[in-house]
Amino acid sequence: MRTRIDPVSYTPFHEALYDLRVRDAMSKNLIVLGPDATMLEAQVSMRDHRISGIPIVTDGNKLAGLVSIQDVIEALVANDIHAPVDKWMTQKVCTVREKFPLIQAVKELQKKGFGRLPVLNADDVLVGMLTNNDVTRAVMLRLNEEAKAAERREADLLARSMTATQERPGIERIEVRVEPMDLDAAGTFAGLVKKALKNRGVPPDVARRAAIAAYEVEVNVILHSMGGILEAFLSDQDITILSRDRGPGIPNVDDAMKEGFSTANEVVRALGFGAGMGLPNMKRCSDEFSISAPASGTTVTMKILFNPPAPASHAVQENT
Ligand SMILES: Nc1ncnc2c1ncn2[C@@H]1O[C@H](COP(=O)(O)OP(=O)(O)OP(=O)(O)O)[C@@H](O)[C@H]1O
Ligand SMILES: [Mg+2]
Repeated sequence: MRTRIDPVSYTPFHEALYDLRVRDAMSKNLIVLGPDATMLEAQVSMRDHRISGIPIVTDGNKLAGLVSIQDVIEALVANDIHAPVDKWMTQKVCTVREKFPLIQAVKELQKKGFGRLPVLNADDVLVGMLTNNDVTRAVMLRLNEEAKAAERREADLLARSMTATQERPGIERIEVRVEPMDLDAAGTFAGLVKKALKNRGVPPDVARRAAIAAYEVEVNVILHSMGGILEAFLSDQDITILSRDRGPGIPNVDDAMKEGFSTANEVVRALGFGAGMGLPNMKRCSDEFSISAPASGTTVTMKILFNPPAPASHAVQENT
């Protein structure tokens, strides 16, 4: 009868049992005795190696039988502990093939209540032993590998989502990568933005607004995020500043946009940050401003036109 699998309780543990083969889990460190060994030798060997059964093999490692603790007790009771093992061993031994899926061996171990199963290859040669402990260890290792692979995939995805946007013809691009809490680097991005705008000869007021917006967003990524990438795209008409970070995002963007709202701690405030004016100033400095801040990462996009229609609306509030 096939075992019914409940999809809810079908865990990665079960999946590993179907994926793994017996030979992936078995121990190849074989402790065996020949048929001429005595029951006393079998008992001593089991005690020394802390095992509950010992396979008896003939030439070429063919399995002849298995001596269990139970067999030893029976020999002792019969006062026959010096008899050769082939007199007392179990001859009809349950075995499992090395190529079988591990689930098959688990079923066998459970069904018969055995502590260990001898593992045979296609030529009936004993190649290993399998215990419940071996099964658990193999499955745990597999799950661990899978967890690591998943971690690597996630890191890859994140790295890919953080790769810079493609070059576009006619567009000058500036890119700065930001590490969390790297305040020494604060101003790098803003400086590059300012220099590029100066080179283009844009109106000083425009360059100043762009530099402020760039600086505020740069500091926010340094102070409040787990790192990210800052980009600026300069065309003939405007500059677009794009900031993308790795999270943790902003739980309430409406609150964060309010003047004076800050979650900065004392240490950060002591350094002169945390007046809660960054985001409001970014918005004031930009002709177009948008922010989205899910937990996966905050994205801020700001566009500043080189020939703004209404320059009076861009008064910048000083941090106090
Ligand atoms: N990239 C970000 N990731 C996570 N949280 C952010 C990010 N940017 C801003 N915040 C949150 O929004 C709040 C307000 O940001 P804002 O820039 O206005 O002020 P501040 O950085 O705290 O202080 P200031 O900019 O005046 O030094 C921050 O305190 C922080 O909680
Ligand atoms: Mg700020």
